[in-house]
Amino acid sequence: MSSDEDAHLNPSLLGTKDYWDSLYDLELTNHADNPSDVGTIWFSDADCESRIYQYLTSDELSLPPTTTFLDLGTGNGHLLFSLLEEDDFLADGMVGVDYSQKSVDLARAIAAQTPGAEDVKFLRLDIIAESPELSVFGDRVADEEGFDVVLDKGTFDAISLSDGVVDDGTGRRVYEVYPERVARWVKPGSGILLVTSCNWTEEELVRKVVTQGSGLEFSGRIKYPEFTFGGKKGSAVCTVAFKRPQG
Ligand SMILES: C[S@@+](CC[C@H](N)C(=O)[O-])C[C@H]1O[C@@H](n2cnc3c(N)ncnc32)[C@H](O)[C@@H]1O
Repeated sequence: MSSDEDAHLNPSLLGTKDYWDSLYDLELTNHADNPSDVGTIWFSDADCESRIYQYLTSDELSLPPTTTFLDLGTGNGHLLFSLLEEDDFLADGMVGVDYSQKSVDLARAIAAQTPGAEDVKFLRLDIIAESPELSVFGDRVADEEGFDVVLDKGTFDAISLSDGVVDDGTGRRVYEVYPERVARWVKPGSGILLVTSCNWTEEELVRKVVTQGSGLEFSGRIKYPEFTFGGKKGSAVCTVAFKRPQG
């Protein structure tokens, strides 16, 4: 492995909770003034949410309406609402979590005025620091081993920009424990984790998530338009699916 493969991202404000609390505070005020203003929709220029929807409703996956979803770092909850637009999935199987209470307040306010989305559950949860039982996510998953689909759009990116270090004596940056922390919410055997990033290339994202401790394996990718720059091909955003094999 070259040292480049081990490189951390430089910490930035987007890796701090204060940044997200102030952003959602502002977006809550804007939404209260103008209910059609739902705030930032990350990666909308890459048409990310409709690509995720197409992937999840493809014949390859053939997910039933009862599919359960956990959206990590849900922000305004827009990704979950976008999956409800065509009536393929049921809102009561969806949970969005975020460590910013203001995000949870914003997502709940939008859900309350989005027909069909009233049953989506939003909870405040720090996905790195807290390890709740599945029952906190509600009845639909309380007796299951995990969610069918765990979504992350931009949250691993934000966590990768934190300079925080885990309190287990290993000196690891918080993003390095992300794979083992989130893997436990993916249903073994059939569940998937779908991570969308603009900070890591697809190869880097796979290397960062498929670590020894996570038990996760690469299972697929969503295609985005590619550009060539300096003789190298790439895309501005990547989405990678990971599975958690049984046992
Ligand atoms: C780039 S935003 C993406 C928001 C949303 N997923 C979207 O696509 O619009 C990153 C989100 O991750 C949340 N976040 C960062 N670290 C987190 C953590 N440790 N636990 C839960 N949420 C976190 C932030 O509050 C923020 O809402």
